[in-house]
Amino acid sequence: MAGCGSWGFFFTVCAVSLFGANAEIKVTIPVGRIFTYELLRETFLNDFEPLSKLYGRSYDDPMIFKCNRQSFPDLPEWLRFTQRTPYDNGFLYGTPVSAGKTIIEIYAINKQSYEAVRQILVIKATAEKMLPYQAEVFIKLREIEKVLPPSVQDEIKQDLQKLWDTEALEIVNITNALDRGGRVPLPLAGHFEGVYVKVGSQQYFSDCLLRVQTAEHQKQCKAAAKVKIPGGCNFCNIPSNCISWCKTELFDLTKQEPAPPPPTVGSGILVEGGDFDPPESPPSRDFFPDYIVTVIVPLILAIILCVLLAYIMFGRREGVDKRNARTNQIQLYHHHTIHGNTDELRSMAGDRGASPPLSTLPMFNSRTGDRAAPLQSDSIPLIMAQQ
Ligand SMILES: *[C@@H]1O[C@H](CO)[C@@H](O)[C@H](O)[C@H]1NC(C)=O
Repeated sequence: MAGCGSWGFFFTVCAVSLFGANAEIKVTIPVGRIFTYELLRETFLNDFEPLSKLYGRSYDDPMIFKCNRQSFPDLPEWLRFTQRTPYDNGFLYGTPVSAGKTIIEIYAINKQSYEAVRQILVIKATAEKMLPYQAEVFIKLREIEKVLPPSVQDEIKQDLQKLWDTEALEIVNITNALDRGGRVPLPLAGHFEGVYVKVGSQQYFSDCLLRVQTAEHQKQCKAAAKVKIPGGCNFCNIPSNCISWCKTELFDLTKQEPAPPPPTVGSGILVEGGDFDPPESPPSRDFFPDYIVTVIVPLILAIILCVLLAYIMFGRREGVDKRNARTNQIQLYHHHTIHGNTDELRSMAGDRGASPPLSTLPMFNSRTGDRAAPLQSDSIPLIMAQQ
């Protein structure tokens, strides 16, 4: 529920929240007729409005609805919910099949602020005589949300009343073609999901409707040929409400065979059936082949690989030795030449016989020319004591 902002707004906001929580709407509908309930964004936005004003938000917040039967996770089987986008109104629709009371909880959630408002819808379905003659038509150029508003339902009903040649006509069911195995259309203009509309009447089908059952019509439909329907049978004022003749089906419920008798119910107590006889234990299995395959074979393979590797490493060093020998030879040659050169230099130096320059002697002072006796190197500490 909406939180209460500041104290100044406390009473307004909370009062509205409480009002929203207690909003309960009661409807009474007949069994076997289509029921539609439009969830108007505007009414719910009014509930959010005080807070929206408080925060200066726009009036057109996106909104989603969550609907479920009270204390159940989902809607009852006969009731469906649809909302195209969070900026569209939502619809609850369906055909109740039995009399009784259903309580539906509707939560409207503002997707901008995540405020929520709850509404309770009490649907009371009253028994009604079944309409014995029913026809289902397919409207190709429609989408379920566009058909559910009462004004559009009336347009479609009026066309079908003319087709049936009777005023006593009721819409029994409206179904999204996608719920009946239809395909999602391309997101292009002129492509629609399609809607099935089922109508019922106490009066027998008109001649126009009965054409659908003729062999000729069915042959044309199978051949996907252009279906010829006399002009007197085409009653759609608005092109988008025109029906697909090949998908029109008639149901004569008076001719239905009676439902098969329900299965006989027993006493609910199992017949006593002696002692429990455990089944034979399964035959013992021989695991030796498995052992060979999973343990012995990989082991042998590993040993073979080990031996092979050992042979390559220790038994066949020739190739490696040859290369090493070459390297050694080159190194020896270098060594030899260096030795020779050094000896040669030494002998040349020995031949000169002159004393080496003073500057090369240790402890020679180049300014005074003094020569000091070499210091006893062990008397000088390498690192002078600190202090
Ligand atoms: C209405 O149509 C839906 C979808 O095809 C179906 O599940 C439901 O049983 C129909 N209800 C009646 C009363 O025919």
